[in-house]
Order: sequence, then C-alpha cells, then structure tokens
Amino acid sequence: MNDIFEEELNKETVFKDRDVLSAHYIPETLPHREEEIQKLMKTLAPSLSNKKSKNLFLYGKTGTGKTSVAKHVIDKLVQVKDKYEVKVDPVYINCRVQDTKYQVILKMVEYCYPDQEFIGYAFAHLYDRVVEYIQEEGTNFIVMLDEVDKNQSLDDLIYTLTRTNDEIDKGQLIIVGITNDVNFKEDLDPRSRSTLCEEEKVFSPYDAEELKEILNQRVEKGFKEGKIDQSAVNLAAATAAQESGDARRALMLIQKSGDVADENNAEKVTDKHVRKAREKVEEEIVYETIETLPEHQKILLYAIAQLTEEGGHYKKLDGTDDDKTLMSGEVYSRYESLCEKRGKDSKTARWCREYIDDLDMLGLVTTNISGKGVRGNTTLIKLAYPAEKVKKVIEERFSS
Ligand SMILES: Nc1ncnc2c1ncn2[C@@H]1O[C@H](COP(=O)(O)OP(=O)(O)OP(=O)(O)O)[C@@H](O)[C@H]1O
Ligand SMILES: [Mg+2]
Repeated sequence: MNDIFEEELNKETVFKDRDVLSAHYIPETLPHREEEIQKLMKTLAPSLSNKKSKNLFLYGKTGTGKTSVAKHVIDKLVQVKDKYEVKVDPVYINCRVQDTKYQVILKMVEYCYPDQEFIGYAFAHLYDRVVEYIQEEGTNFIVMLDEVDKNQSLDDLIYTLTRTNDEIDKGQLIIVGITNDVNFKEDLDPRSRSTLCEEEKVFSPYDAEELKEILNQRVEKGFKEGKIDQSAVNLAAATAAQESGDARRALMLIQKSGDVADENNAEKVTDKHVRKAREKVEEEIVYETIETLPEHQKILLYAIAQLTEEGGHYKKLDGTDDDKTLMSGEVYSRYESLCEKRGKDSKTARWCREYIDDLDMLGLVTTNISGKGVRGNTTLIKLAYPAEKVKKVIEERFSS
C-alpha cells in the first residue's frame, strides 16, 4: 500500500524553509531601512539616559517595512536594556486587533502586571495602574501603536496617553504611531496631531534594486541551493516594484513562484513560474481586500457584481450599449433591495457615494463622472474584477 504521508514528505520541493518567505517572518537585518531604524533609535535614545524623548509618527504605504522596523527596534531596545540596566519598556500594540482605547490600555496594564487579572475593570482604573507603574518603576514606557488609524477611539486614547506625562515626576510615556493611511494625519484631531507627530518619518516604497536585495536575502534561506534562477528573483522584484514597491507583495510572489514550480514538478523556479504566480497573487490580494470590507461595502459591491452580470442600463451618448458600466442610481436601488432582503437598514445615498469612492480607492471598481450631457452628472461605475468571482467571495463570507 502506498503511504500517502511518506509520499507527501518525500515529494521534491524547491524550498528549504518556505516559512522564511512568509510576511510574518522578520529577518535579522532589514536592508534599505537603516535610515528609518536610525531615526527611530535616535528619537528614543534620550530615554536611555532618562531624558525626555519625543513622540514619533511613522507612515508609508503598505509593505514598506514599518512593522518590521518597529519590531526590530523593540528587540534592540530589549537588548540595550539588559546590557545597560536602563528602564525601558517597549510595548507593541496592533490597533487592528486592539481597536478600542479600552483594549489598548488593557494590553498596556497586562504588560505592566503580567500576573494580575484585569478584565472587567473600568478604563480609568486600568489607566491609573499604568501611570502608577511608570511612576514607581521610573521607566521609559514606549507604546508602539501600529495601524493606529484602525483604533476607533483614537483621539480619546491619544489625549489620555499624553496626559500621562503631566501626572508623573519619574519615568515617561513615549508614543510611536504607525499607519499606512497617508491621509490619516490630516484627519487627526489637531491636538492629537501635534502630540503624535512631534517627529515623523516617511517610509518610501522600495524600488526594484532594493526589492531584489530584500528577496535575495530571503531566497538564500528559503530555497534550496540552485533551485531558483536569479533572473526569476529579478523579475519578481521588478514586477513588485512596478506595481507597488511593496516588499510583502514581492515575497508573496516569490513564495507562490516556488509553489507553482513544485506543482509542476519543475527542477527549479524560472521566470515562467513567476509570471504564473503573479496572476495568482493578484487574485489573492483582491479577494483578501474584499473579505476585509465592512458589511455595507460588501453588500454594495455585491450589488455592483450582480448588476454587472445582468448587464447595466447605461447607454452611451451615441446610443450604443455599454452594459458593463453601471449608473450610481441603479446600483443604489439594487443595494437597497439587497439590504431589505437581508433585513438590514440601508444607508443613505450620500453614504453610498462615499462607499463607492472607497471601493474605487481600493481598486475594486473604477468610477467616472458622466459628461454634462442629457443625463446630467451621474457617477459611472465599472467593476474591476470578474463579477462571478467577486460574488463568490462575498457569498462565502456571508454564509459563514
Ligand atoms: N527592508 C526589509 N528587509 C527585509 N524584509 C522586509 C523589509 N521591509 C519589509 N520586509 C518584509 O516585507 C513584509 C512586509 O513588511 P511590513 O509588515 O514591515 O510592512 P508594513 O510597512 O508594516 O506594511 P503595512 O502598512 O501593510 O502594515 C514582511 O514580511 C517583512 O519581513
Ligand atoms: Mg504593518
């Protein structure tokens, strides 16, 4: 009898350690982020001699290494702390997970007193305990708020946290805010802005050369020797640089390329596998984006996909049909009826227009304002991906 497990284990693969190529892996050195690491270290350095440090705001597009740099610096600080016996407490908090001010303070207090149970206490109590910890320890408490734009009570949180330094005469609280939403700073309450952005550092997208180096570093650990062509790595770097300058995407691409090569029982990864993988990565990213949409945006996108499949009612000014282009009016009525079917209150048409702008920004639809013709101004909407697939992803999410 064939042993399936053994067969699976003995299967030829190009990978030495596939996980090294995943986005969760943080390499020991981060090529091309030396300056950003320096900036973060420098800003935090005064705290190492118990001087006042400034708050810092890091921003830049997705996959430009913000989280990696933040975590790298935390590791460095922990090492320094052990070496010089300074009091530094760096805490990393992801505000997509800890998305209210309560959850953030809970995480902070749990860090301070790991053996105590805090669930159920009021915010004010938890906050007081954190202040007490900083004061008693005389520590430099560095709170890194990653994806800070995702926190629902952000202004409140920042305001509270900045008050801390007025309440203590020993130690300090330093805030490092991180976001990939480039417009976020403008949307902040001016008071929070001046607090959070005392110092700032922008992370730029990587170019092809930089991505090549980042990939090479990982390829060496992730692939068996001779199992990937350098030209394939270069192609992946160039492709990702052209599309986004996003290192996560470049890594996904190279990992997928390995999978494609394995599926085809190929000797090694070549350009051909990279091209094939590119299509798959593209799809995956789109569908991941759809999965994370808020409910009403999903319903709206579903309405757009349904109408696209049925054919819209838009006629071009010359009278010819363009049934893949939809008018905002028909999209809104379909959205309303879908809401009704699901027993949900629909949002207003104005909200809907904003949602459509969001979908446009995410690249899921493209929009145009129709010329001032017979119909006046209406927004024309076109789905950017195959309707059938978009529907399927949303249906899967809704049924679960
Ligand atoms: N300079 C670099 N050297 C090596 N790997 C890198 C570098 N920059 C990013 N990466 C890798 O790219 C992936 C994404 O990086 P990271 O999570 O730090 O991006 P980010 O800027 O936080 O993105 P987002 O805004 O989406 O949170 C990670 O797997 C990380 O290891
Ligand atoms: Mg990040």
